[in-house]
Amino acid sequence: MSTVAPRPIDIVEGNLADLDAVMTIMDAAFDPAFGEAWSRGQCAGLLAQPRCWLTLARTGPHEMAGFALCHFIIDEAELLLIAVHPDYRGAGIARTLIEHCRNDASAMGAKRIHLEVREDNPAEHLYRQMGFETIGRRPKYYKGKDGQKYDAITLSYNISGRNISS
Ligand SMILES: CC(C)(COP(=O)(O)OP(=O)(O)OC[C@H]1O[C@@H](n2cnc3c(N)ncnc32)[C@H](O)[C@@H]1OP(=O)(O)O)[C@@H](O)C(=O)NCCC(=O)NCCS
Repeated sequence: MSTVAPRPIDIVEGNLADLDAVMTIMDAAFDPAFGEAWSRGQCAGLLAQPRCWLTLARTGPHEMAGFALCHFIIDEAELLLIAVHPDYRGAGIARTLIEHCRNDASAMGAKRIHLEVREDNPAEHLYRQMGFETIGRRPKYYKGKDGQKYDAITLSYNISGRNISS
């Protein structure tokens, strides 16, 4: 599915100062039909919490291609949000971001990393490719703008005892 010529990507840790760039990606990346995008207030509130971290994929000092937002609780991590700007898709950026998040989670002592995805979101394919497995389902959790309801699928990746970079 690669549509973009490979460009060097820097993966760096972000913070509240990157919120403008995060919201630019957020607005461009998520289909408004499903209401999955977070508001600026939600992102800021989360980033103010301890043990939440933001991972950025940069293509230059002032150019961001994607981000991932994670949370660590007790001995588990959650990948709360991941988005790549449409101009940069298909170049492996989301895969790279997830690998970094898994490494960070492992370094913090997480045994597993979870995420939730709307059924029918093409991102599910990516997560499964990377070894995430279904552990739960919330029926009709998401509501599309057209009124259609979609299940939320909870996926999990077992970090313990795995070579998580592969
Ligand atoms: C999902 C998303 C983050 C993927 O970003 P990306 O950088 O294009 O993904 P990658 O290039 O790393 O893809 C890696 C693999 O995942 C699969 N994949 C990624 N996006 C896919 C899509 N839309 N449809 C089908 N497969 C997809 C591909 O098989 C690809 O493998 P390949 O290179 O062997 O073809 C991006 O499409 C996005 O921002 N979507 C909107 C936001 C969203 O829905 N986020 C997830 C829910 S929080």
